[in-house]
Amino acid sequence: MNFIRVCHKDELPDNSQKIVNIGKKKVALFHFNGKISAIANACLHKAGPLGLGEVAAKYDGMYVTCPWHGWEYNIETGSAPPGFPDQQALYEVKIESEFISVSEEPIVKAHREHHNNSLLEDLLKLKYQTSEKSLNILGISTTNLSSQLPRFSTSEDALEKSLSYAVEKYGATTKMVKLRDLEFKNCEGYYSQHSHACTWPCSITEMNPEDGMTEVYESMILWADIVIVSTPIRWGNASALYYKMAERLNCVQNQITINNKVLVKNKVASFIITGGQDNIQQVAGQMMCFFTDLGFTFPPFSFLGWSRGWTSEDMDKNVMQFKKSEYIKRTANEIVDNAVEVLKQIKKIDNGNIHAIKPKRSDSLSFDIENKDMNI
Ligand code: FES
Repeated sequence: MNFIRVCHKDELPDNSQKIVNIGKKKVALFHFNGKISAIANACLHKAGPLGLGEVAAKYDGMYVTCPWHGWEYNIETGSAPPGFPDQQALYEVKIESEFISVSEEPIVKAHREHHNNSLLEDLLKLKYQTSEKSLNILGISTTNLSSQLPRFSTSEDALEKSLSYAVEKYGATTKMVKLRDLEFKNCEGYYSQHSHACTWPCSITEMNPEDGMTEVYESMILWADIVIVSTPIRWGNASALYYKMAERLNCVQNQITINNKVLVKNKVASFIITGGQDNIQQVAGQMMCFFTDLGFTFPPFSFLGWSRGWTSEDMDKNVMQFKKSEYIKRTANEIVDNAVEVLKQIKKIDNGNIHAIKPKRSDSLSFDIENKDMNI
C-alpha cells in the first residue's frame, strides 16, 4: 500500500482536525484522545465536508457530525452510529519522521445504504399531474387561526369565494391548503453552508417525509395549474406562516441555481391580501417578486387587496364592511377569470424558449477561487 505524506505532525495537535488532499481525493484527518485517524471528507449524503464537522464523544466512540445536515461518523472506524449500516471510507495513517502519511487507498471502503424514500418518489421524479387540458386551482391560505377558536378570516373567505367561483364557472378542480393545519419545520438555512446543501425536495422533507411541506410541494409543484395565495397583512407584511412557507420553497428556486432546472413551468399565480390598515402594494410586490423567481406567471391585475386606511382603528367594523363589500365579491371572481385566461395562453408556450435568468454558481465573481475544504 502506498502512503502519501500530508503534513507535519505539529500541524495537527491533539483536539484538532484538518482536511488534506490525497491526489484528487480529500481526506478528513482527526487527532483526538492521542489518536490520529482519517476518513473520506465527502459525506455520503450530499458530500458535505466532514473535516469541518464538530467532533464529540457519543454512542460508542468519537463521532464527527456533518456540518450540512447532521449525519454522523465514527472518526476511528468511519462507521455510522450503531444501528445504521452506512460506512465512510477509512484510511490508514502512519507517522514517520514527524510527518503524517495517509494510505493512498482506503483500507475500508465506503458503503451507502439504500435509504427508502418511496414517500417522496413523485417529488424526486417530478411526476407532474397537470396536462394540456387540466385546470387545477390550488388555494393556499396563510392566515394563522387557532382551530380551538374558529373565527372569520377576510383573506381566507375571499380565497374560498375564488375557489367556489372557479368550480362553478370553469368546472375547475380545486384544492385548499391551510398552512396552519400542516405541521412543518422552519427552514434551517442549509443553503448558507453551500448551495448544494439545499436539496430538492428540501433536506428537512428528506429527513422526515411527513413534514407538512410535502403537501405544499406536491400540490404547488406537481398538481396545480394556478396557485392563489391568500394572506392577511401583519405589521405591513404578509403573514409569518407565508414567510415560513416561502423560506422552505428555497429548494425550488435553488434547482435553477445549481442544476439549471426550472420546476415551475406554465403555472399562474395570483394573490389575495387583506388587512385592516394598508401596505397592500408592498406586500403584493414582495410576493410577486418571490413567485416570479420560482417561475410563476402573473395575469395583469393579479391581486385582490382589501384595507380600510391608516386611521381605521375601529377594527370591529372591518369584517362587517368586508362582508358587505361588492368589490370583494366581484374581484374574488375576477382574479380567477384573469388567471384562467392567462393560463390558457401560457399552456401554449414552449418553455424551451424561456430562460431562467437567475444567477448560477458559475456567475459568481469568486467562482474561480477554490474553496479547498469543499468536495464539490
Ligand atoms: S449530512 Fe452530510 S451532506 Fe447531508
